[in-house]
Amino acid sequence: MQNNNPIGIFDSGIGGTTIWRDINLLMPNENTIYIGDQLNAPYGFKTKEEIINLSFKNIDYLLSQDCKIIVVACNTATTNAINEIRNKYKIPIIGIEPAIKPATSLTKTATVGILATKGTITSDLFASKVKLYSDVKIIEQIGYNLVSLIESGQIHSKELKKLLRDYLIPMVDQGMDTLVLGCTHYPYLIPIIKEIIPDNIQIIDSGKAVAKQTRKILEQNNLLNQDNKLGISTFYTNVDPTVLKTFITEPAIIEYKNF
Ligand code: DGL
Repeated sequence: MQNNNPIGIFDSGIGGTTIWRDINLLMPNENTIYIGDQLNAPYGFKTKEEIINLSFKNIDYLLSQDCKIIVVACNTATTNAINEIRNKYKIPIIGIEPAIKPATSLTKTATVGILATKGTITSDLFASKVKLYSDVKIIEQIGYNLVSLIESGQIHSKELKKLLRDYLIPMVDQGMDTLVLGCTHYPYLIPIIKEIIPDNIQIIDSGKAVAKQTRKILEQNNLLNQDNKLGISTFYTNVDPTVLKTFITEPAIIEYKNF
C-alpha cells in the first residue's frame, strides 16, 4: 500500500460529503475518492441485510480504486453493518455514530435530542449506546423524508422546513439544550435548524471527530501521505451528478460511475 493512495469514503448519497469536507480540511494533501450511492438512497428505510450488502458493494468498488483506508461516512451503514464490514475487510475502517457521548457531557438540562434515520435509531448498536447514559433524557427522533428531500435538491423547500419544525419543536418543549445530528446529510440543514430552535441550543455532529480518528489511524499504520501538494478530490455518483455538483464548491472531479 502506498502513502499517496486515496482515502475511500462512502455514503448512501450526498450526506457523507460533510465528512469528506472535515477530512479535507484536516488533511488537504490527502487524495480522496468519495462514492455517493444515490441510486440506492435513502439507506435509512432499508433492512440491515440490504445495508450490509450495499456497504460491501461500495467498499469493493473503493478497494478496486486502491484506497488505503475506508471511511463509512454514513451513520446508518455504521450502526447496521460495521461489525460485518470489520469482519470481512482487513484494511483500516473508520465508522461514524451519533455523538451521544459528547452531547451527554455538554448538556446542562440533562436533556439531549437526537435526530437520525430510522435505520440508525432502530439499530442494536444505537440502542446499546443510548443505554450507557441513563442519567440523561435522550429524545430520539426519526428524520422521516429529510434525506430524500436533500437528495432531490429541495433543502430550501417549505416542505423540508415544516418537517424540521414538526421534529424539533417538541424536543425544544421537552427541555433539550443539545441537539445531535445523527445523519451525515443533516449538517447541510444547520442554517434552517437555527431558524427554528433557540440560539442557546448547541448543535453537534461527529464530522471533526471522524476526521481526527482517520488521521490517527493513518498515522498509526504509517499511511499518511507525505506529499505536500494539495490532494486530488474525486467524487463518483451512480446517478446524474447535477445535484451532487451543487454541494461541492471545492476544486474536484465529479463524475457519474456505474458502481
Ligand atoms: N447519510 C446517512 C447517515 O448518516 C444515510 C442517510 C440515508 O440514506 O437514509 O445515516
